[in-house]
Amino acid sequence: LLVFICSRDLWLTFTSLSVFQTMAVPPTYVDLGKSARDIFTKGYGFGLIKLDLKTRSENGLEFKSSGSANTETSKVAGTLETKYKWAEHGLTFTEKWNTDNTLGTEITLQDQLAKGLKLTFDSSFSPNTGKKSGKIKSGYQREHINLGCDVDYDINGTAVHGAVVVGFEGWLAGYQMTFEAGRNRVTQSNLAVGYKTDEFQLHTNVNDGTEFGGSIYQKVNDNLETAVNLAWTAGNSNTRFGIAAKYQIDADASFSAKVNNSSLVGLGYTQTLKPGIKLTLSALLDGKNINAGGHKLGLGLEFEA
Ligand SMILES: *[C@@H]1O[C@H](CO)[C@@H](O)[C@H](O)[C@H]1NC(C)=O
Ligand SMILES: *[C@@H]1O[C@H](CO)[C@@H](O)[C@H](O)[C@H]1NC(C)=O
Ligand SMILES: *[C@@H]1O[C@H](CO)[C@@H](O)[C@H](O)[C@H]1NC(C)=O
Repeated sequence: LLVFICSRDLWLTFTSLSVFQTMAVPPTYVDLGKSARDIFTKGYGFGLIKLDLKTRSENGLEFKSSGSANTETSKVAGTLETKYKWAEHGLTFTEKWNTDNTLGTEITLQDQLAKGLKLTFDSSFSPNTGKKSGKIKSGYQREHINLGCDVDYDINGTAVHGAVVVGFEGWLAGYQMTFEAGRNRVTQSNLAVGYKTDEFQLHTNVNDGTEFGGSIYQKVNDNLETAVNLAWTAGNSNTRFGIAAKYQIDADASFSAKVNNSSLVGLGYTQTLKPGIKLTLSALLDGKNINAGGHKLGLGLEFEA
């Protein structure tokens, strides 16, 4: 509640400043720096053989299932998800199940009580262990501002996550914190500042005053996107860094490559075989021991109908 009131006041202060002209809605805190992150993560699946199926029926029912086998541990994991969208009432119902035997239900209500307001009720239950958890998430967005307040409860007690992102002429600033009711203190406090245009994005963040990070995303031209990532911890001179690029070969195929300071090289190739069938091949090579093995391969197939 406190977070909500603070955020509301902040929002009122911001909207009362007439210098703000209409601009796109800023992203949520967790989506800050997403373009760069996607270049590093999408199109790879090292050490996994993965199959995804997605179907959709005309009455708004979506069915998703995914299975993967880890080539090293031979562990097989799977998830099933059905989603029903009741568009006229802004409602979405999602049922989830996975091979760890966790059942989840999520209900989302969007743009109903107020435009830009999204409420989510999320609960999960594991019949084997009897573990239960729940979340109430709320998000509100409009020009220049994106607010989020989530309340989680599980065996560890109740935690409140609050986040605010404000944006003005491409500049973005965000703050995120976690308050644990059981311990009665703020256990996480993160800050981010960035700049964003369609072709260029800069993102920097400080987590708990000790973890520093930065990323740059650049769309060089219609076919080529690049990203650079940097991270370090206070009191430790080890900087971690990586660069990544994605090249769209043609409408159906793309090639990705990344390397980081541990000399680990990731390569990925994605090809749409037919409309609705996508193949992903990936390889992780250890640049320091190129002849010694220890490399990982990945294969993914996605079907969508
Ligand atoms: C509860 O706290 C422990 C230790 O802090 C953590 O490892 C665990 O993941 C937490 N459980 C949940 C459900 O968040
Ligand atoms: C590179 O990354 C590793 C982590 O794998 C880190 O420990 C190391 O200090 C980094 N080295 C340099 C030169 O940045
Ligand atoms: C380097 O890249 C590999 C593969 O992309 C990743 O698994 C690893 O965690 C990265 N290491 C560092 C220190 O960022």
